[in-house]
Amino acid sequence: MSRFLIISNRLPVQISISENDIGVEPSVGGLATGMMSVSKSFNSLWIGWSGVDFNELTNSQVKKVNSALKKEKCVSVNLTQEEVELYYEGFSNKTIWPLFHYFNQFVEYEDEQWQAYKRVNQKFADVIAENMEGVDKIWIHDYHLLLLPQMIKEKFPDVTIGFFLHIPFPSYELFRILPWRNEIIQGMLGADLLGFHTFDYERHFMSAVRRLLGYDININEIHLPKRIVKVDNFPMGIDYDKFQDAALDSQKRSVRDKSEIRKELERYYLLYPETKFVLSIDRLDYTKGLINRLEAFEYFLENYPEYRNKITLVLLAVPSRIGVDQYQQMKSEVDEIVGRINGTYSSINRNPIWYFYRSLPFENLVDLYNYCEIALITPIRDGMNLVAKEFIASKTDGRGVLILSEMAGASKEMSEALIINPNDRAQIAEAIKRAIEMPLDEQIERNTVLQKRLKRYNIEKWATDFLNSLDKVLQNEQQYL
Ligand code: UDP
Ligand code: G6P
Repeated sequence: MSRFLIISNRLPVQISISENDIGVEPSVGGLATGMMSVSKSFNSLWIGWSGVDFNELTNSQVKKVNSALKKEKCVSVNLTQEEVELYYEGFSNKTIWPLFHYFNQFVEYEDEQWQAYKRVNQKFADVIAENMEGVDKIWIHDYHLLLLPQMIKEKFPDVTIGFFLHIPFPSYELFRILPWRNEIIQGMLGADLLGFHTFDYERHFMSAVRRLLGYDININEIHLPKRIVKVDNFPMGIDYDKFQDAALDSQKRSVRDKSEIRKELERYYLLYPETKFVLSIDRLDYTKGLINRLEAFEYFLENYPEYRNKITLVLLAVPSRIGVDQYQQMKSEVDEIVGRINGTYSSINRNPIWYFYRSLPFENLVDLYNYCEIALITPIRDGMNLVAKEFIASKTDGRGVLILSEMAGASKEMSEALIINPNDRAQIAEAIKRAIEMPLDEQIERNTVLQKRLKRYNIEKWATDFLNSLDKVLQNEQQYL
């Protein structure tokens, strides 16, 4: 049976090392959680970075790490400290990430980082080459590896290559700023099928190809001299049943078996039954709009005094990319604003914001999704945003209100949510009020439509649609040649 390779910068599991022990934890982020659910049902091998610096390990630790990864059907690409700085924190997260999310003011243009990006893409290609036995299909993921499709195509012209971008592709006017724009697009065009979350990202990519390289474009096909590259949008879904089932389980548990988080929420609710819990979950990333979310919440408390002491914002900020300056600065800003809001609006035993700076295991995430009445998701720009979908999937009785930024890819499929502009504080505050006051039958009506859609277009459907399209591209290509 043929095998296929999944390639991403970060493996779906992260390795932690203590003196005698090797820990294996799931990675955070939409790519990892989404693909992890589907990879189990395929005969696949996942190649990527485990987050560990192999140079720091003893031989016996290296063996243990490799065998732990093997059990997870993973193979590691080992990055040196310098590569982490220049390729991962550098070109990937100081150039591509801010540029593709329209944060032009944060973009760095460092040739040293670009050179490292090329070298590490080649390093991935070399590890792939070592694992090609019996492989006829490769699925590459995300912005760290934009040059890899071409590198693989040159070396293995008969292997079918799919590429999926998990972040936005920006409009041509922004993309053209990049000094290495042509190389990036050429790199991506090594794939046979390119997938994006939304039609807009796809359209932006096509426009960049036409204007920069002048290739003929026919609806969603790019005609290269010797091949056709297919481009399409595949909005990523979630493992809907997993969230529904876990939420049902979270509700059903006896007091003794409930998680500490759930018990705490329920205890608080018994003391203050008028409380509405508003949930905010994301990696601590400037694209996620945490600062404007907090400012809008402050505006709400200021302008709707009747709700003070009746609302609690549960703020889960997951540590992310702490080696990049902007992320460190943002952490200080968030700490400061949370302190200011709690300092102003707390009473002796009630704080308007419960702030957690950590990641949570799956069961606790579901406790929060299931228990909190409102989710406040306000990214300035976001490729998709799976948290929005997970919140809705965890609403077992259909109650709950999602407030969602129009700048998240997910908003295209979730128009029944309260859609807001993340830069409009007054509009967000009004949406919070509307969410608090929304009649239950309206909540259920909106969520029933959303749930039906999420259940139908779940992660499995997303992956099979992509892979079926990849197979079709190959058939068409053979006709074309
Ligand atoms: N997540 C997690 N642990 C946490 C918080 C979040 O595993 O403590 C997961 C969450 O369930 C979701 C993913 O991280 O699947 C975040 O994906 P999203 O698309 O919302 O944003 P991204 O981080 O990929 O930009
Ligand atoms: C986003 C990206 C992923 C990335 C994740 C977590 O979802 O699209 O490629 O893995 O964020 O970021 P990190 O830098 O920790 O891998």
